[in-house]
Amino acid sequence: MELWPQATSYISAMKTIVTASPKEAAEFVRAGEIAAFPTETVYGLGAHAFSPAAVQSIFDAKGRPADNPLIVHIFDKGQADEIAVAIPPYARLLMEKFFPGPLTLVLRKDQRVPREVTAGLATVGVRMPDHDRAIEFLRLCDSPVAAPSANRAGRPSPTTWQAVLEDLDGRIPCILTGNRTAIGLESTVVDCTEDDPAVLRPGAVSLEELQTVVASTGAVTATGSSNRRSPGLRHRHYAPQALVRLVVEAPTAPERNTAYIGISTPRHPDRFERYLVCGDVHEYAYELFDFFRACDTRGVHTIYCELPTGGGLATALSDRLRRASEATS
Ligand code: TXA
Ligand code: MG
Repeated sequence: MELWPQATSYISAMKTIVTASPKEAAEFVRAGEIAAFPTETVYGLGAHAFSPAAVQSIFDAKGRPADNPLIVHIFDKGQADEIAVAIPPYARLLMEKFFPGPLTLVLRKDQRVPREVTAGLATVGVRMPDHDRAIEFLRLCDSPVAAPSANRAGRPSPTTWQAVLEDLDGRIPCILTGNRTAIGLESTVVDCTEDDPAVLRPGAVSLEELQTVVASTGAVTATGSSNRRSPGLRHRHYAPQALVRLVVEAPTAPERNTAYIGISTPRHPDRFERYLVCGDVHEYAYELFDFFRACDTRGVHTIYCELPTGGGLATALSDRLRRASEATS
């Protein structure tokens, strides 16, 4: 095909500005361009949510499949009513308790939200990040901001602005810098379009915590009804180039060029090209995607990952580990 190489060279000719100024980054969004920004979960890649052309450039920059909807980010709880309609009372309770925070609510969309954002669905994901610089940036954008994670499609989500640059340098006009993200895994996605809420993607807000506010909250399993599943979960996700192997214990005689990450200490750590022992599941979540990227940079062949046990954040971590291992096996 003639067109694609031309499009690629056009995109890679773009200059990527790296800035610490929310105002400068917001100006790109206001002008109909896109900008990456930090949040407490992972970095996002934002566009004016009411501009189909701006939203389309997110899909182009990431190489994201068009059937995967974007989350719309707000700086104030009241902004939810600009993008969603018929918000059920239980969703208001969840917003009161968990916004700002690592929680996305899937709600019925307002007609103003274009189909490019929601991949043609009648629903829209809404999230208010718990991150001062993100809130400042979103406030200055003057509109709700549609944003997926700021990685190339299929790569691990970025937890540092350097990881955004690694994936998208020359493909996006602006990166708003910030700290390394505090949580390291993407938000919990909860469907709020039926009688009871249902978790579509586990994250740092756990099912148990959601149930303390809305007792009837359920979890949608991989075998659950397909109309309550998150379209994004069909796609290859969260995966490094290396093979990911889930283990209950680190192998004692690993092959050459392998790595290990987990909470237990391997018996022979020095037999790994790279290894990381985390203090708890929070540290494990915080480190995981960065570790995946570091392993890829070093050309590691196989990454052994200890499968954490228990609920709460361990559920989200196990979910990402399973997806990474399925994507590479
Ligand atoms: O923490 C996060 O959620 C980060 C930061 C940047 O906010 N964003 C993020 O976006 O992880 P993304 O696009 O990588 O993942 C969004 C997930 C996908 O699995 C998508 O299918 C799902 O949310 N989603 C978005 N809108 C939806 C909708 N209307 N119905 C069902 N699932 C939806
Ligand atoms: Mg993503």
